[in-house]
Amino acid sequence: MAVTQQDGTPPVGAQPMGMLSERTPPVDHPPGALVNLDAHTQAGLVGAEFVVGRHRLADAACTEGALFTDESIAALLDDYPSELLFALTMGTDPERMEENERLDHAGITGHELLTAVRKGRIWCNITNVDRVDSRFRALTDRLYGEITEQAPGFASTETHATLLVSSPGAMVYFHVDGPPSFLWHVRGHKRVWVYPALDQSVLPRALLEDVFAGARQEYVPYRNEFDQLAMVHDLMPGEVAMWPQNAPHRVANLGDLNVSLVTDHYTRAARRRARVYTANRFLRVKAHVPQRWLGTSPTSLGAGAKVAVHQLGQRLHLDDKTSKAHPRPTRRVDPDSEIGMSAVSPNVTR
Ligand SMILES: [Fe+2]
Repeated sequence: MAVTQQDGTPPVGAQPMGMLSERTPPVDHPPGALVNLDAHTQAGLVGAEFVVGRHRLADAACTEGALFTDESIAALLDDYPSELLFALTMGTDPERMEENERLDHAGITGHELLTAVRKGRIWCNITNVDRVDSRFRALTDRLYGEITEQAPGFASTETHATLLVSSPGAMVYFHVDGPPSFLWHVRGHKRVWVYPALDQSVLPRALLEDVFAGARQEYVPYRNEFDQLAMVHDLMPGEVAMWPQNAPHRVANLGDLNVSLVTDHYTRAARRRARVYTANRFLRVKAHVPQRWLGTSPTSLGAGAKVAVHQLGQRLHLDDKTSKAHPRPTRRVDPDSEIGMSAVSPNVTR
């Protein structure tokens, strides 16, 4: 279904925002399919709108849904590479993203992590899950295969997956991702705000260039008034939210524990945009070319030349960027704490 802009009474906050106008009735899935995109969703996906489709991963009878149970997630986490798991805690004001804080989770079992997530205000990004566990790779391939069959004109060239497990009330601050992404929601309820893509009133172009180039984290400055431009949707189990490439977004869980799979991908067009924005940053920062001279069209004559200059600059090591260092955690996941976390002992070296 397509998410369309309309006036409505917002359920949170004081700002008017775009709301999902209606929920379209369920439609029959093609036999055996996990994904079901109706005609509006198919067209919206290809036309780069914010749309919400359906999937069967939340159905009790769906075999693949077993990957998202507590038992399965706990077993996955017990052996998970520590450097690919990120546990974060956060404040309650979406404007104060400095309250987003990484938590130490060394030595925590899967069951302990889930216990802490249930009690606390914790968001877990289990990254590269499709690389670590072949069942998630197979599932991601299947989901994208079905989307490609159902939405003529859609073709991805590479895909990745991250499993998300998060506390009741937890949130993800306003941010922008380089590739397009789909949020496959399986358990719990969450609210998603999606802002216009490539709108410099919510995201200055230079910041998007920095994100594409890997020169800054995906979190970008946010003000509450941006919500006047947002489309908002309360995501239910069995729904998949699909938003356009580079549409900034933020998420807030409602009253229950949430489990979702987020997949990101590139299409040929999405990759071309990434190359042009990255090349523009190189020329702006390293060659001091004024931004007004640097167009963003990925299909212009100049785009290929800029990308070639950037690639030459990379080969000559002229595009070195400062690494994104994470501050040392001051708190750790703690299943025995009432809030699921506690202070890191200053005497413990991790
Ligand atoms: Fe995101």
